[in-house]
Order: sequence, then C-alpha cells, then structure tokens
Amino acid sequence: MKNILTGELVRLSALDADEIGRTFARWGRDSEFQRLLNSNVARMASAKNAQTWLEKELDEQPVNLHWFGIRKLDDDMLLGDIDLYVYNWSARDAFVGLGIGEREFWGKGYGTDVMKVILRYGFTEVNLKRVTLIVFEYNPRAIRSYEKAGFRHEGRMRGVLNKEGRRWDMLTMGILREEWMEQNK
Ligand SMILES: CC(C)(COP(=O)(O)OP(=O)(O)OC[C@H]1O[C@@H](n2cnc3c(N)ncnc32)[C@H](O)[C@@H]1OP(=O)(O)O)[C@@H](O)C(=O)NCCC(=O)NCCS
Repeated sequence: MKNILTGELVRLSALDADEIGRTFARWGRDSEFQRLLNSNVARMASAKNAQTWLEKELDEQPVNLHWFGIRKLDDDMLLGDIDLYVYNWSARDAFVGLGIGEREFWGKGYGTDVMKVILRYGFTEVNLKRVTLIVFEYNPRAIRSYEKAGFRHEGRMRGVLNKEGRRWDMLTMGILREEWMEQNK
C-alpha cells in the first residue's frame, strides 16, 4: 500500500519542539519569509522562546489540528511545516497553511508535492469535503503552486493587508473532494 504520508520529493514528519524551535527562530529572521506568510506585523522570537511556545502547542495540540514537518526524501532535511486545521467538523472543511523556510528550496516543486500529500491525507484519511486556503496577492509563486495542486480561485478580500506602506488583497482558494477525486482517478 502507498505510504499516505510520503510524496515524490518530500514526506510529512512529526514535529520535534527542539529542532523546529531552533529552525523557526532562524526562518523568522528572513523578513521575506515573514512577509509571504504573515498578514500581521513581522515579529521575531529567540530559539528558546520558539521552543517553549512549540512545546506547549504540541502538548496541547487539539485533535482537529494535523500539523507536520516537511522533510526531503533524499536526505531527510527539514524544509518547513504544514498544517491542516479542521475548523468546521460538520461541514468537514479544513484550512491548510504551509511554509518552506529554506529559501534555496523555493520553486523546486517541494511545495506542490507536499500540498498533494496533505490533500490526499485530508480527503482519504480525515474524510474532508473541502480544503480552503488564503494567500496574498503579492505571492505569485504560492498561487501558481496551489493551482498546480488543484485549488481554484474563490474570492478576494480587497485591501485587507498592510505591507510596505500600501494595501494589498488577500485571495481565497479552495478544492472540493469531488474535484480532487476527479483529478486523482
Ligand atoms: C509557497 C511555497 C509553499 C510554494 O512551494 P514551492 O516549492 O516554492 O513551489 P513549486 O516549485 O512547487 O511551484 C511554484 C510554481 O510557481 C512558479 N513561480 C515561481 N516564481 C513565480 C513568480 N514570481 N511568478 C509566477 N510564478 C512563479 C514556478 O515556476 C512554479 O510553477 P511551474 O511548475 O508551473 O513552473 C513556497 O515557495 C514557500 O513556502 N514560500 C515561502 C512561504 C510562503 O510563501 N508560504 C505560503 C503562504 S500562503
């Protein structure tokens, strides 16, 4: 049977607070990474603070949050993290969010691959009906990657973001279970 946590290039892995805390603190020093990921004001955390926060988050992780590390298959390097948050169980709708913190690995197919893995996990294991995401208009790489993974454009919140002294739109995208099944026959 196919390993549902593994793709062509990456696998989903458990998160270790020490390792990911150190790495989160390093990735957080990259202001471009923060700009692409956070709608809020850029902030930084020390490795110790990130580890303490993560330990607590991982200990108290609710059952409707499926949060993983992203590791390269060839050398097991930690590239980023991805989470699927089932925010409405009766509608079986989940939000997905991901970040590859190692910028030399942007644009090499890892993000699309891990999104395909988490969609398969969400639809075949968690039994979701749809998956939703938000992305900023100034992130064309992410938008293209999500389109490749099968997401459709659904909406646009105009001028909701404040970055670099101007306003930007936030886009919503989604994929329905039937669409995913059609794409993965
Ligand atoms: C967004 C992210 C997950 C995408 O993963 P990735 O591995 O970089 O993306 P992929 O290589 O799988 O696909 C990127 C696609 O965008 C295209 N692309 C790259 N830069 C682009 C640009 N400036 N404009 C348009 N398309 C672009 C690539 O050519 C590729 O499409 P193609 O295969 O048709 O040629 C990753 O870049 C990332 O984590 N970035 C930093 C944080 C972030 O943006 N998180 C997402 C927040 S919503």
